[in-house]
Amino acid sequence: MIEIKKADDGLISELVSFSSRFFDEKWSEVSFLNEIKKSNSAVFCAFYNNEMVGVVCIENQFGDGYLHNIAVADNFRRQGIARKLIDKCCDFLHSNCVEKIFLEVRMSNTNAVNLYKKCGFETICVRKGFYTNPTEDAYSMMLEMKK
Ligand SMILES: CC(C)(COP(=O)(O)OP(=O)(O)OC[C@H]1O[C@@H](n2cnc3c(N)ncnc32)[C@H](O)[C@@H]1OP(=O)(O)O)[C@@H](O)C(=O)NCCC(=O)NCCS
Repeated sequence: MIEIKKADDGLISELVSFSSRFFDEKWSEVSFLNEIKKSNSAVFCAFYNNEMVGVVCIENQFGDGYLHNIAVADNFRRQGIARKLIDKCCDFLHSNCVEKIFLEVRMSNTNAVNLYKKCGFETICVRKGFYTNPTEDAYSMMLEMKK
């Protein structure tokens, strides 16, 4: 069974190892520690039999939610784990009086775009050249949570 936990200091090395395999950008121990310690951000992890199989990082930026990164291990995809992680983010942000969550996603990342649409996100604009390595435009998406 999949278990979702809010990350704490004890998970830092596992988080660094997981994110180095699945996140676009490098996240160091210090960056995870910062995210975990701040009251306005959170990292949620999905576990299967004590193995980390998914991670999401979110932040409350002055009243707006921002989803920084999400990834699920290859052999655990298409089992609803990313949706479970996003549901947790919504609960966390909603309980912190946040009503809207924003994110950017590479236009070519159809799996992620489909995931966000399935979760209720809508495209609000295209950000030209938002990404580097390789250069690519981003969809900026937003989810408005029900009060
Ligand atoms: C995007 C990602 C997080 C999805 O994780 P996941 O656990 O497989 O997603 P879920 O099983 O919760 O899927 C939810 C919905 O997303 C969409 N989706 C996810 N993967 C898909 C795929 N390969 N093809 C088409 N749609 C897909 C579907 O609508 C799916 O619902 P359905 O299974 O009922 O059709 C995963 O593919 C991943 O880690 N990708 C690499 C990292 C990444 O690109 N992160 C996003 C950066 S912005």
